[in-house]
Amino acid sequence: MQGYSLVAPAKINLYLEIIGAREDGYHELAMVMQSIDLADQIDITPNGSENIRVQCDNLEVPLDKTNLAYRAAELMAKEFPEQFAKLGGVDIKIHKRIPVAAGLAGGSTNAAAVLVGIDLLWKLGLTKVEIEELGATLGSDVPFCVAGGTAIATGRGEQLAEILGLDNIYIVLGKHLSLSVSTPWAYKTYRATYGDTYPQDNQSLTARASSVHSAPMIKAIVHKNAREISQLLHNDLEKVVLPEYAKVLELREAFASSGALGTMMSGSGPSVFGICESLEHAEKVKQQVRSSIPDEDLELFTTQTISQGIHLKSSI
Ligand code: C5P
Repeated sequence: MQGYSLVAPAKINLYLEIIGAREDGYHELAMVMQSIDLADQIDITPNGSENIRVQCDNLEVPLDKTNLAYRAAELMAKEFPEQFAKLGGVDIKIHKRIPVAAGLAGGSTNAAAVLVGIDLLWKLGLTKVEIEELGATLGSDVPFCVAGGTAIATGRGEQLAEILGLDNIYIVLGKHLSLSVSTPWAYKTYRATYGDTYPQDNQSLTARASSVHSAPMIKAIVHKNAREISQLLHNDLEKVVLPEYAKVLELREAFASSGALGTMMSGSGPSVFGICESLEHAEKVKQQVRSSIPDEDLELFTTQTISQGIHLKSSI
């Protein structure tokens, strides 16, 4: 039987507001998520055995059950035992281009690709919403990665409302190779620092969540106005990550004085992005950041916004 090669794009957060604490221990969020064309490639093929096997060309990526892509395949085997018994396990090859532990949903998008790939391999005919629901059990960002494009994400990040796609806005992205930030640490620290400002009961949490803070950003996106989007970037997690990680702060400041239209840390970091007017402008911003931080450990990427999530590259 044939396999599939899938494209798994990264995401950035144009807007991330922490509303308060939820009863399930997570945070209630109001986010605007955006897919970018910096992507991993996931090759998924049946292996005729009872096993799920993961390979990756980046040694930092674990190949065992701690890898979200592995857990996605395990989930599919559990949810669809007949197909698993009939068709066997899968080999998953991850060609990594998205920086690891960067706030770019690299692990989540790999898991999303595995869900989509197994749906195709096993001819399950699941709807996008059904795949997103399965994804939500693996991680808060997985549903967005399935659908991709531009979306408002609420709840713990898994409830999505798609906005008209935002294509072709140039983005420069920076990430120190040797630096990673733990997402649970970032949220825990935020709670310890700002928890006393959270709504105290469920009713006030719902009331605060429904006063739409990201509305001006959504308007700017609908108008495809890169300048306005750049002015409205917001990420509450910067308040805990920037004071703790001097290199992220330095990178954020380098972007701020690079001539980029706007800059922000993505997710829980440590990646920082700058929005640019054109490819030419992006190359200038990249050079400017590079000359401010001539550290080989800093990786810089030129990428652009895209309006799709997981998609098929080819049959293999
Ligand atoms: O859902 P995911 O496993 O990606 O989340 C990673 C961690 O980030 C969670 O264990 C939690 O500590 C934190 N988190 C949170 N509130 C959210 C999403 C994530 O507190 N809405």
